[in-house]
Amino acid sequence: LAATGAAGLAGLAAGAGAGHAFADRRAGEENAQALAPSRSRAGDRDGLPPALLSPTPSQVRLVALDLRAEPGERAREAARRVLRTWGREIGALHGHGLDARVEGAPTRGLFPASLGVTVGLGASLLDRIGAQDRIPPHMEDVPAFASDRLEPGWCGGDLLLHAGAEDPVVLSSAVGHLVGAVAADARPRWSLPGFQRSAAAAEDPGATPRNLMGQIDGTVNPHASDPVFGPQVLAAHPEPALAWMDGGTYLVVRRIRMLLDDWYSLDPGDREAVIGRRLSTGAPLGGGAEDDLPDLSATGEDGTPVIAPDAHIRLAAPGNTLGARMLRRGFNYDLGWDADGLRQAGLVFTAWQADPRAGFTPVQRALDEGADALHRYVRHEGSALFAVPPVRGGEPWIAHDLLP
Ligand code: HEM
Repeated sequence: LAATGAAGLAGLAAGAGAGHAFADRRAGEENAQALAPSRSRAGDRDGLPPALLSPTPSQVRLVALDLRAEPGERAREAARRVLRTWGREIGALHGHGLDARVEGAPTRGLFPASLGVTVGLGASLLDRIGAQDRIPPHMEDVPAFASDRLEPGWCGGDLLLHAGAEDPVVLSSAVGHLVGAVAADARPRWSLPGFQRSAAAAEDPGATPRNLMGQIDGTVNPHASDPVFGPQVLAAHPEPALAWMDGGTYLVVRRIRMLLDDWYSLDPGDREAVIGRRLSTGAPLGGGAEDDLPDLSATGEDGTPVIAPDAHIRLAAPGNTLGARMLRRGFNYDLGWDADGLRQAGLVFTAWQADPRAGFTPVQRALDEGADALHRYVRHEGSALFAVPPVRGGEPWIAHDLLP
């Protein structure tokens, strides 16, 4: 089993490319086929779950669920039923779509729209089913940060469904079907829809997308064809007890509200200073193009740093975070306005990494302790950590090794 992950890594390392990390947008060409509306996108031969494939879908939905059963043998049976059911139903959705499965489905007449479903397991699930000895140390709780404003109802979860597609009807129906199929055993805890610009609306579909703050977001990211992708994003677990996660990845989800009225009341130059990059091109301040390396030592004529001491990219840079790395995939969310007239919009921030203790956590700690200028304009309101097992051909369901 350990070889599965190793083979995946070898396959990735054999991919094209020198160690340039600005490459997610190159993926447009490499994986264009994956977004063909007539196809779904199950995981690929390297064991990557659909959520890690590029290009990213324009629509996603995340649903965290909790088991209904009390901890112990009943929870264990329930967890097995859920994973078995999802294994069967996700396979059917990827294969022939919902229309072939459910008579009268809303997807009638629609292509699969690149539907891809990824499943995650929370540490609370492993605890509940009595599998404490199979919880990787990588799943220790994300620590509390001074800037957190977390709502308990938007945190945690025993299980996660992460579904992506190009069409909202296909997505909504698939997620509804999968949640419904396990309703006797699991209930939704929180859910969040996310979106990005659609490729059809983009002048350059291969360009790095913008978030709702107007920033080009996702520039510095490892791509599957970079040799660093495997070590940074995929977990290596040679120990038999943890082999179920060998070649998988750990996902940190943060629900981050953006204070968009405050943000857009800033002058554009001040908005650029907060991140340390140009709004127009995404180039680092002092640089000329999006892919230029930021010069963190540059000073202006008045002797002050060109990229401010509290700029987001300075604090998040590897030199300030002990080299911590992750694959960041941000999706926008926009739920309109609440009863007080406050905009409910922001970022479904997802970070995928080999080990959150060497990825998300040290970076967020550096942002927190460095008083990231961005923190005045965002609120972290939800947080969760999931193990995302590899997709292994021939396995009847995800994490089969854990719950045969
Ligand atoms: C870089 C926006 C939250 C980690 C960036 C960039 C933008 C951005 C515009 C520069 C372009 C790029 O490289 O993608 C945001 C927004 C956030 C947010 C709007 C919240 C709403 C976070 C969080 C983390 C994070 C929570 C991790 C804890 C990073 C890293 C980089 C980065 C590692 C690359 C830094 C480098 O240049 O090496 N972010 N970010 N960001 N962000 Fe964030």
